[in-house]
Amino acid sequence: MMLEELLQQLQAISSDAVASLNAADSDAAIEAVKNRTLGRSGAITALSPQMGQLPKEDKRAAGLAFNEAKTAIQKALNDAKAKLAASEAASAPAVDVTLPGRAWPIGRKHPISQTIDECCDIFRRMGFIAVSGPELETVWYNFDALNAPLNHPSRDPQDTFYLPDGRLLRTQTSPVQIRTMLGNKPPVRIVSPGRCYRRDTPDATHGVHFHQLEGLYIDKNVSMADLRSTILKFATEFFGPDVRIRMRPSFFPFTEPSVECDFSCVCCGGKGCRVCKNSGWLEIMGAGMVNPAVLRNAGYDPEELQGFAFGFGLERLTMLKHRINDLRIFSDNDLRFLKQF
Ligand code: PHE
Repeated sequence: MMLEELLQQLQAISSDAVASLNAADSDAAIEAVKNRTLGRSGAITALSPQMGQLPKEDKRAAGLAFNEAKTAIQKALNDAKAKLAASEAASAPAVDVTLPGRAWPIGRKHPISQTIDECCDIFRRMGFIAVSGPELETVWYNFDALNAPLNHPSRDPQDTFYLPDGRLLRTQTSPVQIRTMLGNKPPVRIVSPGRCYRRDTPDATHGVHFHQLEGLYIDKNVSMADLRSTILKFATEFFGPDVRIRMRPSFFPFTEPSVECDFSCVCCGGKGCRVCKNSGWLEIMGAGMVNPAVLRNAGYDPEELQGFAFGFGLERLTMLKHRINDLRIFSDNDLRFLKQF
């Protein structure tokens, strides 16, 4: 082989290798180029014996050309490896396991929801199950079945939101009593928390919507004493062991007799303060023995069954527990307020 030819071949091998390496996109491709050029049975290696055949004066030039070709291929190999490593690093997610974790803001339950949960827990421990009912009610469930006289002021459109089709937004959770009795055989022991609507002018203690919790217990031989002990147990579980309760005669169409149940003031312990208007007592709930007419409307025999019902506002309970003096703050959705619970 003449020098001329050797140089051409070296040139061809090296430029082919450099071109392949520039296009290589995997370790295997790079390795293959290396093997077929610089490897033990590679093209460059195979050419080196040719050097010995050359005339003496050509050997120097040939040696230089070999070195040049090897250096060019080696440089292209290194560049290709570096390029591949860089692109792998760029596409892999950069995870630094030594960084401290990111704290995601965790939401929490609204204070009213917390009160609902707490009340339902307390009553569940006494054997009551929690049920819900529709907020959109018929006049029959909200008033008629509950024995409300036709001229009862709460039926007035001034006080109740009616829909054009005659239905209404429930003004109390008591219609759930009727729905539960109609759908279940006695005994019945339920609580039903939920939203109610009244056409009040909003102020610090009234809103157009608010939450009530209704309780109903129907069985044979249920008495006022059971009502009293159930409410007392609830009061002490919710506000603490020192709370006392008292009952005053009252009137509701759906209970007879009816009572208004007061709790001893949770702010002053009953001594008298601004919250209880110096009376030592807080009006908390309405209650009573279910009116026989209501039992009959629900298909129960009042000769055989009795029961008690009670209902209270959850905003008021939450306000007393957390010493909040304006219920509008519950629907402002101000995070500075909500984060405190
Ligand atoms: N539903 C009554 C109200 O809204 C409260 C109540 C419930 C009273 C159950 C007695 C029995 O005022």
